[in-house]
Amino acid sequence: MKVISLANQKGGCGKSTIIMNLALNFALQKKRVILFDTDPQQSSYETIQVREDKILKVVAVYSDLYQALEKYEPYYDYAFIDTPPHDNEIVTISIVCSDLVIIPVQDSPLDIRSTRITVELIRKAKELNPDLKTYCLLSRIQPQTILAKELAEILKNRYETELLNTQISNRVAYKYSLIYGKSVNELYSNDASNTEINNLSEEILAILNSK
Ligand SMILES: Nc1ncnc2c1ncn2[C@@H]1O[C@H](COP(=O)(O)OP(=O)(O)O)[C@@H](O)[C@H]1O
Ligand SMILES: [Mg+2]
Repeated sequence: MKVISLANQKGGCGKSTIIMNLALNFALQKKRVILFDTDPQQSSYETIQVREDKILKVVAVYSDLYQALEKYEPYYDYAFIDTPPHDNEIVTISIVCSDLVIIPVQDSPLDIRSTRITVELIRKAKELNPDLKTYCLLSRIQPQTILAKELAEILKNRYETELLNTQISNRVAYKYSLIYGKSVNELYSNDASNTEINNLSEEILAILNSK
């Protein structure tokens, strides 16, 4: 089972929105996928509960994450972990158990600065999990501005981390996806958000399949 965490201790950067859309994208491709919500605010857990179907298995876990991963491992090929802001312990465990950590970062200098805490946490976790892959993801960006390009450079240089090619823009479609518990892929076949999530999903699969 491949484990993918979304982490940034800065709240509001889009972790729950992105992870819900990604996990549903995998589920719609008929992949065996499970979503763990380790945030006591339960954003992704409750959002998926809004659905009437059972297309995506979602479990709320606040402790014993390692045991939960072991329990579900035989039944799923991909596990996504949504993480809370501030709680170092469960965030650290999520990172240590992951194959890939994605750090969503909003297009603001303040968000880039506060991402340092998460980058530092990941650097320490890599001592226990040296094969971990880490990428930043520009999130909630203003489309068609050069700001995102400039911030991408700052991020790369400051934290020496890789950056995903896909960027997630600030779009009303993502807000609706939380209201209905549906992915933008289900709601908006012609919206740019649909392409963003498809591209993100493809990029993640390529990274997981690379050495
Ligand atoms: N790409 C986006 N476009 C528009 N609104 C977004 C986007 N990503 C997140 N939001 C909104 O921002 C708020 C915080 O997002 P959320 O996914 O809960 O962040 P986090 O889990 O990192 O705290 C939510 O109200 C959500 O609807
Ligand atoms: Mg959240």
